[in-house]
Formats: sequence, C-alpha cells, structure tokens
Amino acid sequence: MIEQLLNKKIAEIKPSGIRKFFDIAAEMEGVVSLGIGEPDFPTPLNVREAGIRSITEKGTAYTANVGLLELRKGISKYLEDRFHLEYNPQTQILVTIGASEAVDLALRVIVEAGDEVLVPDPGYVSYAPSVMLASGVAVAVPTYEEDDFRLTAEAIEAQITAKTKAIIFCYPNNPTGAVMEEEDLRKIAAVLRKHNILVITDEIYAELIYGIKHTSIATLPGMAERTVVISGFSKTFSMTGWRLGYACGPTSVIEAMKKVHQYVIMSAPTMSQWAAVEALESGMPFVKEMVEEYDRRRQVIVQGFRDLGFSCFEPKGAFYCFPRISDLGLSSDDFCEKLLEAEKVAVVPGSAFGDGGEGFVRASYASSMENIKEALVRIERFSQNYK
Ligand SMILES: Cc1ncc(COP(=O)(O)O)c(C=O)c1O
Repeated sequence: MIEQLLNKKIAEIKPSGIRKFFDIAAEMEGVVSLGIGEPDFPTPLNVREAGIRSITEKGTAYTANVGLLELRKGISKYLEDRFHLEYNPQTQILVTIGASEAVDLALRVIVEAGDEVLVPDPGYVSYAPSVMLASGVAVAVPTYEEDDFRLTAEAIEAQITAKTKAIIFCYPNNPTGAVMEEEDLRKIAAVLRKHNILVITDEIYAELIYGIKHTSIATLPGMAERTVVISGFSKTFSMTGWRLGYACGPTSVIEAMKKVHQYVIMSAPTMSQWAAVEALESGMPFVKEMVEEYDRRRQVIVQGFRDLGFSCFEPKGAFYCFPRISDLGLSSDDFCEKLLEAEKVAVVPGSAFGDGGEGFVRASYASSMENIKEALVRIERFSQNYK
C-alpha cells in the first residue's frame, strides 16, 4: 500500500480549517463571504503593466537566486523609510515566493529535530504545520480577548523550556487583528534576549494598521541580530497571485535560507519581481487609499457585531475582526456551518487558528461594504434563533 510509504508527519497535519469552508461555500449560490484572507482590490494598473512589460521587453529568464538587485534595493529603502529597518540589499535580503516560502525557509534553517518553537494561539494557520515539517515542536502561547489578543512577555516566559529555539508571530495579526505597540514588544524582547531565543516576525500586514504606527521588534536594541523579518507584496499591494515576498535578517541566516531556496526554488517569478519594483516605486498612494477604505469597513463591521450583541474587541490591524460567538451556545465550527447553511454567510471558525480561537469566528472585511452590511443583516436574522 502506497499510503504506508508516505511520510507519517503529513498524516498528522490537519487540512486547513479555512479551506474547508471555502470549498463548501464555493458550491453554493448567493453566498456572502467574509471568509477571505486576501485583498478585494485589483493590483494597481501601473504595477500590472510593469509585469506585462517585463515579459515583453525584459525577457523571461531566471533572476539571481536572491532576487533582482533592483528589487532588493527597493525593499531595503522601503523598509528603512517606512519602519526604520536597516538591511543591506547585497547580503541581508532574500526574495521569496510569497511570505509563505520565507516562513518555511526560516523555520527549516533554524529548527533541528525536537526544537521547540513558540507560536501564539490563536495564530496564522501555517505556522504550526511548518514547524512540524521542519521537525520541530510547535508550543502554543495563549493570547486572550481581555488583553486584546496581544502577546505578553509573561505568557511567553511560561512556555520557555531548555528546548525553546525560536518564536514565530505576526502582528498585525491574522486571525484576530491585534497589534503590538512598542511598549509590549520591549518587554517581550527582554525575555527573548534573556533566554537566547530567535524571532521570526511575519510583518505582512504592517501597512494595514489603523490609528497607530507599526513597530517591528527588529528595531529594538539587541534584536536585529536575532530576528528574521518576513513580509511580502500580497496584502500591501494587493498582489496575492503574483507570489512574491521576502525575508531580511542577519547575513548568516539569510545565507542559510538562500542555500535552501536555490535548490528548491531557484528564483522567485521574474515578472512578479519587476512588478514589485514598480509597486515600491509608485504604489504607496494606492496603499493609502486602500487602508482608508479598510478602516471605514472595519468600523462598520465592528460596530455591526457589537450592535447585534456580540463581544468584539477593536482590531487595529490587518483586515479581520474576531467576534466572540460562544454566548449563542454554539461552538465556532457549529456557528459557521449553521450560518452558512441557514443564511449563506461564510466566516471562518476561530478554532481553525488553534484551541484559543474556540468560541470566536474570523470575519474578514476584505470584502465590499455592501457585502459586509448584507452579511450583518443575515447574521442578525440567524442569531435571533439562539437568543
Ligand atoms: C500572517 C500571514 N502570513 C503569510 C501569509 C501568506 O502570504 P503570501 O501570499 O505572501 O505567501 C498570509 C496570508 O494570508 C498571512 O495571513
């Protein structure tokens, strides 16, 4: 039996709880989906045109393994201008196939068999499976609604053992929309320095932040040398399908990641890299407009859930809100299944993001204002049956 020959680790990995609902919703008509985790704006036209021009005028060959120098220079300048992050484009930046590849590579070059990696719970769906695929052990660090789902130094320290090698997190956060301010990060940085722990910080939502400024943990004293910063073009410039991201960090870590990348990938798509050069050069006004629109929707959806009687903390980043639904007496899974069946609204069960997400659902506002308002009307009708 061929199944017996497969790597047993794969059987242990659960399929993504997000995809399950997408698949059901895709077969139904008239569904209003707040399940989506990608921008609903098209890539800016000049960026699309730059991608096309690269194919017709610049050729379609591989680029350098680490990515086009023009792009690495653009990323270096962008990170410095926007977030005070300083990385040498020659030695400290690797262009990857989305932030996804960067997460995988960073874990693979850091983790050895049995090493523990701390992962906030609830957290982004790919981290724990990626840790496991790197032969590590993902250890959940709980975050709570009472703390606005911020990660705390105390919760981290409580989970540290002699085997803890690294922590991976993403703020602004998927699925909660939580953000971390400099003060929170300072306390965490002190704990991580004390225990000699590496940080993988996925900052893919850094531009999607409302009313406050994003701080990267890598900018705090003594942290750049133990931190890999990961980001990408998917969310900031609405470029999910272009599959382009990057990792920045200490030269030794980026060198190690490059080694794996050159064997398994070669180089990120050439046309996407040229499009990304254009995005960094001229795309910021688009980002600003998009963020303003997300902010309007954010306020409507949060107020909408609260008006319906749900407890919903204020998300200050990304494009998700994370209302508590447990007061209706339903599990996250039941809520989502029954809501989809009865009212054709798709949201994602909080439990898809870890045990700490049970009792909550993730509703994305990367969907039109009209969709959001319609979904809220339907959710009101649905929840009346449970009051
Ligand atoms: C936190 C987080 N990291 C990474 C990704 C994947 O990004 P990319 O499209 O750059 O691979 C996502 C996508 O939803 C995400 O939410």
